[in-house]
Amino acid sequence: MALRQLALLPALALLSVLLYAGLSHADPQYVLGGDVVPANTARIIALGTGTPNVYKDQLATSYLIQLGLDGQNVTNILFDVGTGSIVNLYATQVSLANVATVFLSHLHSDHITDLAPLYALASGRSGPLQVWGPSGASPDLGTNATVAGLKAFLGWDQASRNHVSEFPAGYTGNQIVAHEFNYSVPNQLVYNQSGVVVYSNPAFHYDTPGPVSLKLQWRNLTITYSGDTVPLTTFVDFALGSDVVIHEAVGPVYNLSAAAIASKNIALNHTTAVQVGQIFQAIQPRLAIATHLSLRQDTYVPLVSAIRSSFPAGPLALAQDLAVWDVSATSIQQRRFLVIPNGVGGLFTAPSAAPNPAGYKFVTQFDYNWPFPATTHTGLQLYTPGQALAPLPANPASVAASSTSGRH
Ligand SMILES: *[C@@H]1O[C@H](CO)[C@@H](O)[C@H](O)[C@H]1NC(C)=O
Ligand SMILES: *[C@@H]1O[C@H](CO)[C@@H](O)[C@H](O)[C@H]1NC(C)=O
Ligand SMILES: *[C@@H]1O[C@H](CO)[C@@H](O)[C@H](O)[C@H]1NC(C)=O
Ligand SMILES: *[C@@H]1O[C@H](CO)[C@@H](O)[C@H](O)[C@H]1NC(C)=O
Ligand SMILES: *[C@@H]1O[C@H](CO)[C@@H](O)[C@H](O)[C@H]1NC(C)=O
Ligand SMILES: *[C@@H]1O[C@H](CO)[C@@H](O)[C@H](O)[C@H]1NC(C)=O
Ligand SMILES: *[C@@H]1O[C@H](CO)[C@@H](O)[C@H](O)[C@H]1NC(C)=O
Repeated sequence: MALRQLALLPALALLSVLLYAGLSHADPQYVLGGDVVPANTARIIALGTGTPNVYKDQLATSYLIQLGLDGQNVTNILFDVGTGSIVNLYATQVSLANVATVFLSHLHSDHITDLAPLYALASGRSGPLQVWGPSGASPDLGTNATVAGLKAFLGWDQASRNHVSEFPAGYTGNQIVAHEFNYSVPNQLVYNQSGVVVYSNPAFHYDTPGPVSLKLQWRNLTITYSGDTVPLTTFVDFALGSDVVIHEAVGPVYNLSAAAIASKNIALNHTTAVQVGQIFQAIQPRLAIATHLSLRQDTYVPLVSAIRSSFPAGPLALAQDLAVWDVSATSIQQRRFLVIPNGVGGLFTAPSAAPNPAGYKFVTQFDYNWPFPATTHTGLQLYTPGQALAPLPANPASVAASSTSGRH
């Protein structure tokens, strides 16, 4: 369906927006330094929700999950650390020293590159940065090799920092450790520590062995994240029963003919907006989050309409950078985090400012016009391959090793 046809569905669009906004909202006030994650609540913060083609307001994929242990302490876990996402990690003012556990869905640059600053700069960590990620077709294409390469890349950086930092003997917070798991094992337990359990399941992306989906379980809450993948029935099976499902979808693209899209195999190696709706419809999570979309003022309504064509009801969010969801057994609160323009995070202590200073707060009102540029794009297209409404493919049984060149 062409964009213009989609745009002529105002009733559907309005319904979609109403459903989208229909999540329960609690107190919107954010008090600087005081907005703790409640006990038994998982806070999901979208640090980056976009594509490899990052721009200021939509960085590449990363999700910070903060597990509220006791109303005071949290366990921080990262799903992917894509290009630029460290900017929003700093913006949250979560201390990088307390972000030491990372899971990678696959090793594309837009999901891993900000491991570099996370490793290089967070020397307040009490132990090494721990990175769990998949194997590849051969040892040189797996997570261990990627992390070894990162260490080599930052060799001089670390020699220099370690020289000036004068770490005490035995200090390990400046180190990074990889934990590579076999990408091809279905529903595989890859992590079980302090009540947090993470499973992986093979995904399928650019015919290159390695991508996985991830499922985190903690205190009866389940959050499942697709990574980049074609739509798969095996993902639906993996994610059934999840409270929150975060699934990729791509689009729209600009000024490419359908033939050009097909020839580039972009749509065929990702999930379309209509397909992600099919997946949400099959799983029926308490909250469905579509991520990896190119969100702009002029793309939001067509994208929502496309997803709603196959997922007509149920809480839906199109992920925007610095969206915040607090998920408990009984409620899901959706907010957006606004940042002090010159705010600092990381190792720095939050300034002892008056509560809720202007420009630094959560908002409940999701305004998809903010902060997207008001430019109007012409030639905008959603992916609409002919097979969009066909049954989802099962995960291909065997995946041949192939080149990764030129893909993202
Ligand atoms: C938070 O963790 C600290 C350090 O482990 C502990 O002393 C404190 O009791 C915890 N807070 C609560 C509310 O349990
Ligand atoms: C990956 O590296 C870790 C840490 O060095 C090591 O324990 C593990 O055996 C390696 N895994 C593979 C598959 O090489
Ligand atoms: C990974 O798992 C698959 C499927 O279980 C198995 O066939 C393969 O031998 C495993 N690879 C390694 C390196 O253990
Ligand atoms: C995780 O570890 C705990 C304690 O060792 C164990 O009781 C539990 O069964 C494990 N969970 C899974 C899913 O294996
Ligand atoms: C998890 O669910 C079980 C069964 O409903 C319940 O007994 C338990 O209290 C729940 N745990 C938490 C942390 O909510
Ligand atoms: C992904 O793209 C490759 C070519 O780059 C193509 O051969 C393959 O069929 C596509 N994958 C799927 C699942 O369509
Ligand atoms: C799409 O093509 C039109 C016509 O050539 C051009 O004006 C417009 O800038 C293009 N849009 C993008 C996003 O490149």
